[in-house]
Amino acid sequence: MDDTTKLLLRAARGEAVPHAPVWFMRQAGRSLPEYRALRADIGMLESCRRPDLVCEITLQPVRRHGVDAAILFSDIVVPLQAAGIDLDIVAGTGPVVANPVRTMADVEEIRELDPAAVGFVAEAIRLLLAELDRTALIGFAGAPFTLASYLVEGGPSRHHAKTKALMYGAPDVWHALCAALADITRTFLQVQVDAGVDAIQLFDSWAGALSEADYRRYVLPHSRAVLGGIVGKIPKIHFGVGTAELLPAMSEAGVDVIGVDWRTPLDVAAGRVPGKSLQGNLDPCVLLAPWEVVEQEARRVLAEGTKAHGHIFNLGHGVLPETDPDMLTRLVDLIHST
Ligand code: CP3
Repeated sequence: MDDTTKLLLRAARGEAVPHAPVWFMRQAGRSLPEYRALRADIGMLESCRRPDLVCEITLQPVRRHGVDAAILFSDIVVPLQAAGIDLDIVAGTGPVVANPVRTMADVEEIRELDPAAVGFVAEAIRLLLAELDRTALIGFAGAPFTLASYLVEGGPSRHHAKTKALMYGAPDVWHALCAALADITRTFLQVQVDAGVDAIQLFDSWAGALSEADYRRYVLPHSRAVLGGIVGKIPKIHFGVGTAELLPAMSEAGVDVIGVDWRTPLDVAAGRVPGKSLQGNLDPCVLLAPWEVVEQEARRVLAEGTKAHGHIFNLGHGVLPETDPDMLTRLVDLIHST
């Protein structure tokens, strides 16, 4: 394989790499003072709709840390808002939905996503591709279960109780909701693929709330419809938190790379999803400890990652806002020199 191929793509395919590629979930955001300065007077969702800002915020961690991949600055609720759902992102809380979805009539109100309604995302990707050279650009979306959890609860929740009540109590409504969300998500990802992203990541952050049997019954068919419906040969990464028991099922959704949180060592995860590359999985809280601890844990993750088909170094979940950005830069340097 031609050695100008971006490292992230080579690791995703399980090809030899000089060092593991590294990027961080939520690398663009509140751990960076330059991000906070840009966002001082502008709402989260408004900033996502401005291609110039999306481009700048996406590039900030690339310039600062020298990561091997940029993740498009956006949010999982962006395509829902573009499809006409009344919601906002409230600082310190997360997504808040004006009229939670609870009945079949509510589901029937959900419209399809017109690709033109997310034209600002395609435009931002065009700006980014002109700036990025060897750095891969990752597009992303939220998976049907995680999106449904926000729509049904009306906002973030601890136990996803209303979501599960709908899933168990009204499976016809549940499946109709997830089918509508799968359609929106597939369209949103296809817009990003057509605009030229190098890889996509489907976040099913909260899927770990389910048993494997329920995941297979209520969620997997919809995630598979999203990923199986994407036209284009790009690596597909699938990630959730607390998914140790779900890794084999998630790997059946049509993915090349499985994201793993910090609870499952990568060598153990590798045994559960043979033939798939892995992404992860340093505990984001480790970055709040002294550098010696970060280095030791990062070396452990790298060593365990050698057991996988391919390994993309990342955290086990997003960068915490209180993280010292210099820790991230040092960590990138360590990964690149190992
Ligand atoms: O750097 C990157 O990773 C790209 C940007 C990105 C954001 N959201 C920006 C954001 C990505 C990949 C997401 C995905 C996302 N959004 C997920 C899946 C990833 C995960 O963390 O599990 C989820 C569940 C959401 C929903 C959401 N949006 C939450 C829970 C929050 C946090 C609320 C808070 O303030 O604690 C948001 C808001 C959000 N999305 C922010 C950013 C930078 C913070 C907004 C701000 O700066 O005011």
